[in-house]
Amino acid sequence: MTADSPRPITDHTSHPAWLPDDAFAAIGSRRVVVAGDGALAGTVAEEVAAATSRFGGAFSRLEVGDGVADAELVLTLTPPDAGGGASAVAAVDAPGTDESFRLTREAGAVVVQAACDAGLLHGLFHVVRLGEAAFDGPDVDETHAPATDLRMLDHWDNVDVHPVMGQVERGYSGGSIFYDNGFVHADLSRVERYARLLAAVGINRVAINNVNVHAREARLLTEDLGDVVRVAAVFRRWGIRVHLSVSFASPITLGGLPTSDPLDQGVAHWWVRAAARVWDAIPDFGGFVVKADSEGQPGPFAYGRTHADGANMLAAAVEPYDGLIHWRAFVYDHRQDWRDRSTDRARAAYDHFHPLDGAFSDNVVLQVKYGPLDFQVREPLSPVLAAMPHTRVALELQITQEYTGQQRHAVYLGPQWSQILGFRFWDPAGREGGSPTVADLATGRAKAVEDPGTGTWRKPAGGFAAVSNVGDDEFWTGHPFAQANLYAYGRLCWDPTLDPAAVLDEWAGLTFPGAPDAVRQALHAVLDRSWETYEQYTAPLGVGFMVRPGHHYGPDVDGYEYTPWGTYHFADRDGIGVDRTVRTGTGYAGQYPGPWSAAFESPSTCPDELLLFFHHVPYTHVLHSGKTVVQHVYDTHFEGVARVEAMIEAWSAVSGHVEPRVSERVSERLAEQLRSATEWRDQVNTYFLRKSGIPDERGRTIF
Ligand code: GCU
Repeated sequence: MTADSPRPITDHTSHPAWLPDDAFAAIGSRRVVVAGDGALAGTVAEEVAAATSRFGGAFSRLEVGDGVADAELVLTLTPPDAGGGASAVAAVDAPGTDESFRLTREAGAVVVQAACDAGLLHGLFHVVRLGEAAFDGPDVDETHAPATDLRMLDHWDNVDVHPVMGQVERGYSGGSIFYDNGFVHADLSRVERYARLLAAVGINRVAINNVNVHAREARLLTEDLGDVVRVAAVFRRWGIRVHLSVSFASPITLGGLPTSDPLDQGVAHWWVRAAARVWDAIPDFGGFVVKADSEGQPGPFAYGRTHADGANMLAAAVEPYDGLIHWRAFVYDHRQDWRDRSTDRARAAYDHFHPLDGAFSDNVVLQVKYGPLDFQVREPLSPVLAAMPHTRVALELQITQEYTGQQRHAVYLGPQWSQILGFRFWDPAGREGGSPTVADLATGRAKAVEDPGTGTWRKPAGGFAAVSNVGDDEFWTGHPFAQANLYAYGRLCWDPTLDPAAVLDEWAGLTFPGAPDAVRQALHAVLDRSWETYEQYTAPLGVGFMVRPGHHYGPDVDGYEYTPWGTYHFADRDGIGVDRTVRTGTGYAGQYPGPWSAAFESPSTCPDELLLFFHHVPYTHVLHSGKTVVQHVYDTHFEGVARVEAMIEAWSAVSGHVEPRVSERVSERLAEQLRSATEWRDQVNTYFLRKSGIPDERGRTIF
């Protein structure tokens, strides 16, 4: 494609999210040069051509050695040892995996240099994010590189509509962008726009089917591989590699073998052949994601084998292609007897995987949910993250808001993730530089990544994975504000130290270009503390769940109390919470490194927000805040609803400044958030009043 025929940037059937045409105004109005070969350099050139034709700038695609004297922006592939600035382009053909880029500004002229075309693409979007600021201000010379090269999104999309879970498991944004009731969409243009949005925030890997692999989805690995080839071709143009979730039982269900025992030669050969077919068709394929022995998915336990046996057998099959096996640590007994107080679901992942540290092949990434239970609004960090120094560990987050309001509630998760990423397992005071953060563990960054107990952390590390919140909804994410979560995830993967409020600001500026500053301020007023607000009106003090079983939306305090799922709160007339101490409880607190196991062990040192996760205490127990548990519950629930009312007020004052369709969708969702928060408040408060018999000190209405 040339400057004469730019393809349209915006398709008006879907919201442009953080890439509206106006986000390109600063680039599009300038004289821009793109130099270098490689598929992604071609993508960069197309973007620039479209922007300059729209905003009246000038675009040229140059050859090696051409002068660029009057260019205001040069994006060029350059040998790594080239100096700053570029008076003539020194283009190299560099498709490759180095995603870093160098940005220089001299007297207002900006040069982005990258050794590989992937870096050029990230450099372009960096300039887009900066907008006019890219061209203003003093001279700079900066190098940008991602914290990790594993920045992945997992889609829980089903090819077939699942009778209970639908087209997208835990999906709150309409149907799937990939599948339509049994087929991959013939028209993948929406996937293309999605890939572009992801590239702009730095995502570089996408698993395109649900970790719960049903019969139809399993076939993506074999007879329907052609569909995966089509999807991979779309993502490739944006520097994103495709992965598949696979069923551990595939040799049986797809291959007709009598077993899927990982130590069986026939099984291993079946996977070798399957991998060969996949990489033959998709040479840059990423690898397989596996949920094994979890919630009914098949796994190595059926054959008396370990998860290292299972993962390593698959790893050997994909190793010749530099493929990865993302092996999920979400393994627990989902058929436990609620009467059995000795079994603790929170313990399960550590109990299964800690003994296997060091036993996994180098191309196995152990994918660990941030908490030991299941993506609750508040959980302690999974001790598995700290317990596997000789294993590549990935941190798994959930962007889809299964337990945080299902994209009907405005809940900005950036602050939660930032807190998770900055957590220090070996230092309860959380001192800067004291010991590695969770981000350090997941990225293998810096010499700080040493486990004080067992020596040096293995590199490279496992990076990040998160469950996508996108569907075929007009706004991609149901709630327009839920776009901010996808945006923030990408940005935090690239740089986990970013301030989530600054990331929100960036998102707001790109998504609502030209809006008065009051809109930006209102977005902060609505979203900055929304995670905390959601926590206030739902399950208190880290106890978790209390949601409607099955769909997980709305309150149901005892909904899971007598079920096999292992998520209990144990409320009685005297108190509430789960005793996970070593001394009198399930022993879970002992799975943490020293400082935190001691801190969690005693109610006097356990952080308030996690008290009920670790301790069963009387309702009259006094928190560090000075309040009793029961008064804390009442106060936070009243305050949470009041905050939602304030969110609505803040948004109403500015909603006229944004497009009516955005404003309507947001207002409709905020109204539902208020209804739902009120229901949460009244059910939780009433439950605690009835159980404890202790009235609210302030005499507010409880039913
Ligand atoms: C949660 C969620 C399931 C999902 C599972 C997983 O339990 O409710 O729908 O399959 O997580 O992460 O595998």
